[in-house]
Amino acid sequence: VTSAVRVPYSYLDAQFAHPEPALAGIRELVARGDFTLGGALEEFERRFAALCGLPHAIGVSSGTDALALCLAAAGIGHGDEVITTPDTFIATVGAINQVGAKTVFVDCGDDYNIDPALIERAITRRTRAILPVHLTGNPADMVAIQKIARRRKLIVVEDACQAIGAAIGGKPVGTFGIAAGFSLHPLKNLNVWGDAGLVVTTSARVAAKVRLLRNHGMQTRDRIAVLGYNHRMDTLQAVVGNWLIGDTQRVTEQRIANAARYDRALAAIPQITLPPRRPGVRQVYHTYVVLAEQRDQLYRYLRARGIEAKVHYPVPLHLQPGLRHLGYKRGRFPKTERQARRILSFPVHQHLSDQQLDYVVEMVGRFYAERK
Ligand SMILES: Cc1ncc(COP(=O)(O)O)c(C=O)c1O
Repeated sequence: VTSAVRVPYSYLDAQFAHPEPALAGIRELVARGDFTLGGALEEFERRFAALCGLPHAIGVSSGTDALALCLAAAGIGHGDEVITTPDTFIATVGAINQVGAKTVFVDCGDDYNIDPALIERAITRRTRAILPVHLTGNPADMVAIQKIARRRKLIVVEDACQAIGAAIGGKPVGTFGIAAGFSLHPLKNLNVWGDAGLVVTTSARVAAKVRLLRNHGMQTRDRIAVLGYNHRMDTLQAVVGNWLIGDTQRVTEQRIANAARYDRALAAIPQITLPPRRPGVRQVYHTYVVLAEQRDQLYRYLRARGIEAKVHYPVPLHLQPGLRHLGYKRGRFPKTERQARRILSFPVHQHLSDQQLDYVVEMVGRFYAERK
């Protein structure tokens, strides 16, 4: 099959077709020799905090390290259990492991996020924290999760790596727990030229602790206050971030508009199930994920027609060989497992035209029509 229209998943070539302003910024940085921490990073942290509507943002080396720093700042470590979901990117578990704690999984709901109704029965004497993931850029049910955390005296840390700009009832993600981690990995809604992330928090005390921990626990050159990490955000990436951050609001709005266009058109195709869209919840569509009948066949059909559909993620984490030591068997998290067989992601990024979006829907419709 040859298709006239192509719908690529990656947009980095289009996004970075004219990188001159960032390259000029890097040239200035090199002239200053200001490679670690410094002015450009401070500026980026201020702007990111303002973008999120939060008082504190701390630039760190990646989203994974941001989550680990949140947990470490909360004093979570060896012997502690942290509850999260198997329907996430491996980095969530990697962060828990990084601080020496144990991951305990709870199944997800129809929104692909942790199901609050199942959290209580996973709590043990060792549970210290809940780490909900705002998967796809759709906020988890933080009101229900906060209620449980308050009642059971647990810490909440938000994995907001996919959710820059998401909110519940106007309240931004990152304000529900003691802290949250964001990722600026290249295909995130705000991205840089490699790895970087941020911790955000409403607490001045947590912010100060994270600042200390990301830089070896060094209070001054000669005083180590606590044992920390080398988890600083590269100043060079902050230059790239400062170049792009002014556009993040527009990028987010465009992704939301693209998703709404998909939603309206896909509602007419009964073999496609959209996740619930809760009123008052601002989803930012890092990914646009639906459930599709005959998923694997549809995936191949679309790929053959120039549409780069993807699956996020085909193997739930509890079934990954690298996590066998957690002791979970197939069948333990039925919703996550069922969804892994049916989920499909369509390109939703800000560089797509209405024509490309409509072409995706047209091809999905044609696939099912041909099989009637
Ligand atoms: C849900 C989730 N958590 C954590 C991460 C880790 O972020 P990073 O790749 O910046 O370490 C990512 C993204 O990669 C993610 O999607």
